[in-house]
Amino acid sequence: MSRTVNVGIIGSGGMGARHASNLTYMVAASEVTAIMDVDAARAEKIAARCGGARIYSDAERLIAAPEVEAVVIAAPNRFHAKLTKACIDAGKPVLCEKPLATGGAEAREVIEAEASGGRRLVQVGLMRQFDPAHVAVKRISDSGAQGNALVFRSVHINPSSDGSPSLGDVITGSLIHDIHSARWMMGDEIVRVHTSYIPFSADTPDSARYVMVQLEFAGGALGGLECNADSGYGYEIEVSITGETGVVHSSPLQSPVVRHSNASGQWVEEDWLQRFNEAYVLEAQAWVQSVLDGEAAGPSAWDGYVSMLVADACIESGLQFRPQAVKLPERPAIYR
Ligand SMILES: NC(=O)c1ccc[n+]([C@@H]2O[C@H](COP(=O)([O-])OP(=O)(O)OC[C@H]3O[C@@H](n4cnc5c(N)ncnc54)[C@H](O)[C@@H]3O)[C@@H](O)[C@H]2O)c1
Repeated sequence: MSRTVNVGIIGSGGMGARHASNLTYMVAASEVTAIMDVDAARAEKIAARCGGARIYSDAERLIAAPEVEAVVIAAPNRFHAKLTKACIDAGKPVLCEKPLATGGAEAREVIEAEASGGRRLVQVGLMRQFDPAHVAVKRISDSGAQGNALVFRSVHINPSSDGSPSLGDVITGSLIHDIHSARWMMGDEIVRVHTSYIPFSADTPDSARYVMVQLEFAGGALGGLECNADSGYGYEIEVSITGETGVVHSSPLQSPVVRHSNASGQWVEEDWLQRFNEAYVLEAQAWVQSVLDGEAAGPSAWDGYVSMLVADACIESGLQFRPQAVKLPERPAIYR
């Protein structure tokens, strides 16, 4: 008999609402049974769209609720680590949005809690791993047809920024995805980073409008990550891997090319929800399947932790104007 996973969602803003609709309408084996948001009206609006989930005003009570079998955390970053640990304590599988925590030390508490429980319960929302374009680039590079991978590159273009984000905001909010892509697609760890950036203005030297990070991998490959925090024109993500005899890169735009009136053009996606529409569905499907299988899959808390350590090093490098080594702790057995 088919089984349904009952999901509780914490945070019902842009991402929480997307997860709620995907889990209700795009994943056959899941149902949204509870929603918690400090903005009760927003939670009620999203609950009404998914067939009347129960509303909670307290996240810990939602996690403990009997009608909640698994949890999605889509609240602001500062709540991620604490709520993920509460899910681990309750023995409930959790899909925590990225970043796993606000810094490496806090992320370490999560992996320690999960490792001491002896089984993986956490998947982190580093969902590029489910994006068909990223998967295709990795598959071609991994095939070895282009020899060994020498260089990873990614370009991350945001449409606009909310005010003047700090270097830390841009790296932990946006570039964390590309840090994970670099580790996952190269199958190697980042051991050294060097960050340069352009602030929004001379009056806000810690703000970051454009960020560039050079990477060194443990195996000797190099990498480069770029993020335009405020392009003013749309959202684009491009990744490439250069091998010894060729290069594979994703197309920056997914839309068809239209030629008309002596002009040729493509639509630029508005934002991540549009660009990664399919990836979010595939991520939710894989997560629900892993809950049914009783075994967490996808980007792990370890991936969330190591990405955070790299992010911390990138921030430190930018603020100190010099390269920064990334020190990797030993990997607990449950992540091997
Ligand atoms: N994976 C991705 O591609 C992706 C994309 C965007 C955002 N995110 C992540 O998703 C999370 C949410 O981002 P968003 O864009 O939906 O933000 P948002 O501001 O649209 O939504 C956040 C929601 O959380 C609610 N909230 C605030 N404090 C809360 C609390 N203590 N408990 C419960 N809910 C609370 C807010 O009322 C709001 O409804 C962030 O951590 C962000 O990094 C991931």
